[in-house]
Formats: sequence, C-alpha cells, structure tokens
Amino acid sequence: MLDNIIRGEIFMTDQKLCQLAIEAKQNSYSPYSHFRVGAALLTEDGAVYQGVNIENVAFSPTNCAERTAFFKAVSEGKRQFKAIAISGDAQDYLYPCGVCRQVMAEFCDPKTFQILLVKPDGNFKKFTLEQLLPGAFTQNDLEKGIQ
Ligand code: THU
Repeated sequence: MLDNIIRGEIFMTDQKLCQLAIEAKQNSYSPYSHFRVGAALLTEDGAVYQGVNIENVAFSPTNCAERTAFFKAVSEGKRQFKAIAISGDAQDYLYPCGVCRQVMAEFCDPKTFQILLVKPDGNFKKFTLEQLLPGAFTQNDLEKGIQ
C-alpha cells in the first residue's frame, strides 16, 4: 500500500485496490456456493475496507462482499467513498448484484464513484455507479412523496 507516495501522501492506485480485492477472497465464507467474492472499498480519506461474501445455511441471510465492505466502513464512521474493486472466482468480470448497487447509491455520488470489476488475473474494467445503476431510487425520490 506504500507504493505511491507523492509529497508525503499515500495514493492508492487502481491496480493496488484490485489486488486487495483479489486477496480479500481468501477470507470468503462460502461453503454453499463455493463461489468466493472479495471487495476492497476506498474511502475519501484513503482508507481501504476489505469485504467478503458471508453465506448462511438458511441462504437468505447471506451477505455479499461489497455490502460487507460498506457495512464495515460505515460502522467505523466512514461516509465518503471513492471506489470499490470487486473480484469473484469466475474467470470473468463479476458485476455487483442489484442490492449491492442500491447500497452504493445510499452513500456514493453516482457520477464519480468508481466500480472496478477485477478478473482473477488482475485485469479490470471501470464503471461509474451511474453507469451500473441508472435511475437509482434516492432520498430525493422519497422526499417527493413526503407531504
Ligand atoms: N456474491 C457477492 O458477494 N457479490 C456479488 O455481487 C454477487 C454475488 C456472492 C453471494 C453468494 O455468497 C455467492 O456470491 C453466490 O451468489
């Protein structure tokens, strides 16, 4: 994480964030699907929260890697986010599920928040949240309904 230092400040690179998502997978708890997912969430102040999917025998309590990372960060007082890298076990890009996209929409600017989809070999492609969740339901929509 100390590989990019400019004027004493540490900068996270896309490549490094992707690597942290790949590494996170080793802690995945996925005995039912055997499909490991890792995420690495970068906050505005430069901290990284890793997350994994955590499955449950009752299935529906399962939590995705992305939400684990967000919930860890939010519960530590973080509210501003720059980017998330996501890596799954498939030999392809893993797109975040709809529920995780909605959680991102709660906290992130759709035009600037970056979502990095990482293949196991480290190749990645980038989207903004707006690209992956156009027309998101937001607090503005809720306020329109409040009389
Ligand atoms: N999963 C994630 O962690 N993130 C996603 O975006 C898609 C799916 C997990 C949930 C479950 O543990 C496994 O992948 C198979 O669906």
